[in-house]
Amino acid sequence: MTAALPDFPWDSLAEHTATARAHPDGIVDLSVGTPVDPVPEAIRDALASVSDIPGYPTTHGTPQLRAAAVDALRRRHGIDGLDPDAVLPTIGSKELVAWLPTLLGAGAGSTVVIPELAYPTYEVGALLAGASVLRADGLTQLGPQKPAVLWLNSPSNPTGRVLGVDHLRKVVEWARERGTIVVSDECYLALAWESEPVSVLHPEVNGGSLDGLLAVHSLSKSANLASYRAGFVTGDPELVRKVLAVRKHAGMIVPRPVQEAMTVALTDDKALFVQRERYAGRREVLRTALQDSGFRIDHSEAGLYLWATRDEDSADTVGWLAERGILVAPGTFYGPRGGKHVRVALTATDERVSTAATRLTP
Ligand SMILES: Cc1ncc(COP(=O)(O)O)c(C=O)c1O
Repeated sequence: MTAALPDFPWDSLAEHTATARAHPDGIVDLSVGTPVDPVPEAIRDALASVSDIPGYPTTHGTPQLRAAAVDALRRRHGIDGLDPDAVLPTIGSKELVAWLPTLLGAGAGSTVVIPELAYPTYEVGALLAGASVLRADGLTQLGPQKPAVLWLNSPSNPTGRVLGVDHLRKVVEWARERGTIVVSDECYLALAWESEPVSVLHPEVNGGSLDGLLAVHSLSKSANLASYRAGFVTGDPELVRKVLAVRKHAGMIVPRPVQEAMTVALTDDKALFVQRERYAGRREVLRTALQDSGFRIDHSEAGLYLWATRDEDSADTVGWLAERGILVAPGTFYGPRGGKHVRVALTATDERVSTAATRLTP
């Protein structure tokens, strides 16, 4: 039987949300990483262009979509040698994260390793499968364990930490010795500020073999497609085949218009560049304002968040910011070690971001 799931973290923010909303000049909501900028027109056109197709889409996605994903990973992240058949579209990446241990058969008696500070759905996915969860950032913490699945997330949500090639390589070698599947959640890979994140699929990390490796990608943040639900998983062709087989039975299919939209989004590097510049600008404004008002920013070298602290209890920081009409997420949402940090998302309009800065440093 599935272990009880934790409470949905954001539900507990209701009181602080009400406080922030009561600000006379309105709330600046930096508590969730939801895009606010427009969906590029070419993507919307692509969505509409196939809206008259009545038949079922394929679970594996169109050949064009799979080829576009392979090409995008080559151009944007230097990943060569991916087989388009080993690309599998997903209905956003959250559902995949939540169901992957189940889809891989990692159930009761198996262990899923997740980062100490992590996107909450990794834990949920392990619990849904009936597996045990172990939080660890270092291999020495794992001792003689042989986990079924080990999650990586670089750049990290919530910390923005980037794992170096050596670290990734050691994890892959360690996992291969134990038959552990490494799943790397790379949804922030394109948002690099101070260091260059590397995919687990890069040959420098895996020695040119994809055995036992999966990478999870999302178009939510890179192409403003959170509302479309658009992601994909790729890597070891054997593992992708296994996941595809179950998803076909279960009807876990990306709608055909979304497949078309994804194909265009994966081809358009200019739109990605424009979006990255927007986030870079907002990051600079928020980082400076937070630092000027006494915060320290830890990690945050890439990704969509600032990991900020005043070395006090994160609940106090959330309350202090809410009184200024700024809503952020407490670090405790991401693991017990987050108790002194808050996560500040870069996803608000330029106007809201500069309002937040003014409130922080009047
Ligand atoms: C680390 C991480 N993985 C996966 C997701 C899921 O994104 P989506 O379902 O929009 O692809 C998120 C969303 O914020 C995330 O932060």
